[in-house]
Amino acid sequence: MKSETQVGIIGAGPAGLTLALLLHREGISSVILESRNRAYIESRPRAGLLEQNTVTLFNDLEIAGRLNREGLVHRGVYLSFDEQRIRVPFDELTGGRCITIYGQQEVVKDLIKACLEKGINIVFEAEATDIHNINTTSPSISYEHNGKPQTLKCDFAVGCDGFHGISRKCFPNGSYHEYRKDYPFSWLGILAYAKPATDELIYAYHQRGFALHSLRSDKVSRLYLQVSNEDLIDTWSDYRIWNELSLRLHTKGFRLNEGPIFEKTITPMRSFMIDNLQCGRLFLAGDAAHIVPPTGGKGLNLAVADVKWLAEACAKFYKDNNEILLNAYTANALRRIWRAQDFSNFMTNLFHKQASQGSFEYHLQKSKFDYIRMSKAYATTLAENYVGLETI
Ligand code: FAD
Ligand code: PHB
Repeated sequence: MKSETQVGIIGAGPAGLTLALLLHREGISSVILESRNRAYIESRPRAGLLEQNTVTLFNDLEIAGRLNREGLVHRGVYLSFDEQRIRVPFDELTGGRCITIYGQQEVVKDLIKACLEKGINIVFEAEATDIHNINTTSPSISYEHNGKPQTLKCDFAVGCDGFHGISRKCFPNGSYHEYRKDYPFSWLGILAYAKPATDELIYAYHQRGFALHSLRSDKVSRLYLQVSNEDLIDTWSDYRIWNELSLRLHTKGFRLNEGPIFEKTITPMRSFMIDNLQCGRLFLAGDAAHIVPPTGGKGLNLAVADVKWLAEACAKFYKDNNEILLNAYTANALRRIWRAQDFSNFMTNLFHKQASQGSFEYHLQKSKFDYIRMSKAYATTLAENYVGLETI
């Protein structure tokens, strides 16, 4: 079976779905191929922190009704080091910019609903297997659906299929340079029916390891612990998790609220990217092209920023038959990607336990924390990266 569209998108994550909506607004047709079923992708819990730019874009697309009602707007963040806590008021430091806490699965639900309402075709349980003719003006994507091989012909193919997808592997050997850093620790993340013990996120360095207190609503907490790469989830009982969180998040007067844990996963921490996002008529966006450790809360936001550039470039092509923005896509997207790589690496190194208490590395971490506390300039640097640069 053969079908046709202007832009063939692989992956219905935040990147693929947002791209389809942006293209639709420009009158450009697309089809999204997604290997999983709808229920699975609507319940996969991951990110929670949306930058101001992301919220603005979702408002421009008129899909932010529920986000504006249910999202939690945060104007600052708490940072702890060795049980001493400070607050960085990022709205004061960045001219009123802020972040919104709203679960990625809620974002995905809203995006899917909007796509389907606009008649955008999302083919669920359609696994892309190969991309052909990328150096011609009519590439095509092979996929399997209902056990049958199918082909989607398009003018452009866009790989939004995450880190483990096939699209990046369809780039010819030697067409990009790869950068990769694997950290010697992972994150154990939980969701729990527990009233958040904080009104804003807490990032904590502790000699027992990093901890993050985030939230999803006034009844649900999202919390993370630094664990070793060898740690197995079965060795982390609920009792052990709450005990460790309570020790690492401890400051004078702070008391963690516990409750039933309904989600528990371990995620490895890595920085990864390639320096070319286009090969002929095949483009990459989001986690397919880059991974940042989640300490800066940047991955989903970067995915959305990539496809904003790409949709603009496609619009220029179809309107003026001009490929200038398509050919500038890599350079335009890489500026923000590198900034996010640096900031995510900075936050990761600052808050994770990497060396023994009293070592040279430890003192550098402590000195950076003290500097954030003392210097408005340094705190502003952190704040403007955390909320996301308006333009870059
Ligand atoms: P994905 O969400 O991975 O979507 C890719 C889609 O492609 C998937 O649905 C997949 O099923 C599909 N697919 C894969 N292969 C194929 C194929 N062959 N054919 C068809 N479909 C395919 N980011 C933030 O901005 N803020 C945060 O607070 C944050 N916190 C995080 C916390 C954790 C613990 C983790 C793990 C990540 C976090 N992130 C955060 C990162 C964020 O979740 C990702 O960056 C984001 O999901 C990237 O979106 P994407 O659309 O590029 O890829
Ligand atoms: C989350 O709420 O899941 C979250 C928040 C901030 C981060 C990472 C994850 O840096």
